[in-house]
Amino acid sequence: AGRLPLMAGNWKMNLNHLEAIAHTQKLAFALADKDYDAVEVAVLPPFTDLRSVQTLVDGDKLKIKYGAQDISAQDSGAYTGEISGSMLAKLKCTYVAVGHSERRQYHAETDELCNAKVKAAFRHGLTPILCVGEGLDVRKAGDQVSYTLAQLDGGLKDVPAEQAETIVIAYEPVWAIGTGEVATPEDAQEVCGAIRGRLAELYSQELADKVRIQYGGSVKSGNVAAIMAQPDVDGALVGGAALDAEEFVKIVRFRD
Ligand code: G3H
Repeated sequence: AGRLPLMAGNWKMNLNHLEAIAHTQKLAFALADKDYDAVEVAVLPPFTDLRSVQTLVDGDKLKIKYGAQDISAQDSGAYTGEISGSMLAKLKCTYVAVGHSERRQYHAETDELCNAKVKAAFRHGLTPILCVGEGLDVRKAGDQVSYTLAQLDGGLKDVPAEQAETIVIAYEPVWAIGTGEVATPEDAQEVCGAIRGRLAELYSQELADKVRIQYGGSVKSGNVAAIMAQPDVDGALVGGAALDAEEFVKIVRFRD
């Protein structure tokens, strides 16, 4: 429906700032030809790499976008260890992941906190990639749709339509993250379609049709095309496979 696919590489806690330069240069070189405007490419490096990536992307006018893996819900002040939206905006980040399952799981992030982070991102002109998705127990009980939609509702609470229409949603079933066990294209479509349906209920069909919904969880060059063929999947949030520049480029070029 005219949505530009977004392929984002989430490096998680990998690649130091020197490795980040080498990796980004490889991506830029491999993508520096005619037709990759058909897909938007982004990387989400650790905070400590953002300046390196910015310098390369800005200096060489690369088309690669970048963003952070997390953001503070606060704007400034005595919050030791936190990174604010204004700091990320100053580094010209485009995106910021919010509520990645690893943040929810290891840092006890609640829907309420994710909602505050979504709002913080918008306050600073950043586009949140709001991550949602069920764990194995929920999937086994067959409750993946209701569970994921509750996370979506929580993350979007009181977010106005003019902001919500620019958000990116990443559906990442936790049981498929880093496990090699990819959701079937039908599994991905079921929940991504339900997410779009809920966006239509919360806002409007017109808005829902604009929002990009990514799938994440063991995406590789060998399975990306089948997932991208689903009508409500508009991109991928790639973890492990994004650490290998050649493999990530193959994922970006899934249409080739
Ligand atoms: O943000 C990315 C996801 O957590 C997926 O990670 O591709 O290593 O399964 P993965």
